[in-house]
Amino acid sequence: MEDSPSTTKPHLLLIPFPFQGHIIPSAHLALKLAAAGFSVTFVNTEAVHHQIALANDEYLARFSGADGGHRDIFAGARSSGLDIRYELVGDGLPVTFDRSLNHDEFAVQLLHSFHGKVEALAGRLPPISGLVADTFFVWPATLARSLGIPYITFWTEPALVFSLYYHMDLLRHHGHFGSQAENRKDTITYLPGVAAIEPTDLMSYLQDSDTTTVVHRIIFKAFEEAHQADFILANTVAELETETIAAVHREKPFYAVGPIFPAGFTRSAVATSLWAESDCSQLLDSRPRGSVLYISFGSYAHVEKKVLEEIAHGVMASGASFVWVLRPDIVGSNDPEPLPAWFKKETAGRGIVVQWCRQAEVLSHPAVGGFLTHCGWNSILESVWSGVPMLCFPLLTDQFTNRRLVVGDWKVAVDLGGGSGRMAVRREDVAEKIGRLMRGEEGVMAREEVKKVRSILQGALAGGGSSSRNFDRFVEDLKCRVSSRRPV
Ligand code: UDX
Repeated sequence: MEDSPSTTKPHLLLIPFPFQGHIIPSAHLALKLAAAGFSVTFVNTEAVHHQIALANDEYLARFSGADGGHRDIFAGARSSGLDIRYELVGDGLPVTFDRSLNHDEFAVQLLHSFHGKVEALAGRLPPISGLVADTFFVWPATLARSLGIPYITFWTEPALVFSLYYHMDLLRHHGHFGSQAENRKDTITYLPGVAAIEPTDLMSYLQDSDTTTVVHRIIFKAFEEAHQADFILANTVAELETETIAAVHREKPFYAVGPIFPAGFTRSAVATSLWAESDCSQLLDSRPRGSVLYISFGSYAHVEKKVLEEIAHGVMASGASFVWVLRPDIVGSNDPEPLPAWFKKETAGRGIVVQWCRQAEVLSHPAVGGFLTHCGWNSILESVWSGVPMLCFPLLTDQFTNRRLVVGDWKVAVDLGGGSGRMAVRREDVAEKIGRLMRGEEGVMAREEVKKVRSILQGALAGGGSSSRNFDRFVEDLKCRVSSRRPV
């Protein structure tokens, strides 16, 4: 590439897991690390870059290369003085392959082929001093060891979820996970730093009876690698998960540096969206304070059509104004019309359905008073930061465990129900719970509590706050570690 990394600064290779909810915090971590004096090479897959370029065409066109070809999502950041470059690697599949529809084939590539591409890239780059890679990758500790550099594992979910995966062997040993017969159903009370947790609050993959899937193999291998990481950098906040973090920290240096957001929160200096963002301001500007329900199920999970239909009935019956995000592949990329035909007609003038939006901007609009969410960790952090209480409808992976934090521990959300593998939801419940969140006593209480948690997040990021201090300490510890060795 035309700008090579500085030879005086330590050079970090930073690789996000190629999913939207991982790319967003990783890109902003990259900016933070560059601002802290590292030279950073950020790596996206060609397929992710292709999708970002399609979704953000106008934005990226401003940063076209001389040949108009290689468009660089960090060009703007670099022109503002940050030492950060952008590289692409293949993930083993053609760029236009439908990864959403063929998830398992994609996962097989991530399990078996991706590391070879990264290794080849690492060989072509100027000397690397440290590898920052998403915890879900199955190769970083091995690669870092072969390069003679530290592995910094980047964790984009709560410490509680990290700890549960990290101690999978204990869950297995006690029969709460991976039993030949049925898993135990009683409360789990033996995990370090986790006083008690119900099996129904475990991540979906730890509730599954079939533990031989490709995703399970990825998780098992990824956490073998995480056990060998040198540092854990996590998008969470010390005050929110004190005991869990302390217990992990006793085993390995754990730095809670969240919430990792773009500077200014609502707009990013880097294009990261995989889908084109619709502007929702016309509807929001016309609505009274706190009256609009924002609905989104994140970037990854699919929702069955009949479930969406129940929710649609509930939203209609609730009478609430709404902004509803439905990705083009929410049911499956072969089903572009996920909602029943009557919905738009019956709710005309009350709400809008869009494929994707600038979520942080929507959440921070004063008209938004509640968030019906799948409980993705980024969505939770953004909602709390915006002071918006939630209605929880977890679908997959960590979302059940995240629900336990927001409903059970922090009391900033109402639960809509749903458990691992059961997306069952009834229209009457949807309507009633929306009413409770938007107009009821429970909503009032959750709104009060969310202000308290928001001030914890704000305090953590302020100068001298826990996340600022942890980030500075991490930078110091890493620089100290890399200055004691020669980069490869
Ligand atoms: C999954 C996991 O559940 C989550 O915990 C993990 O951290 C990432 O992968 P995902 O479905 O991606 O989650 O949801 P979430 O973590 O909430 O991330 C979605 C991101 O997309 C958020 O940053 C959100 O602001 C953004 N988004 C979503 C938009 O910008 N526009 C939209 O319309 C919807």
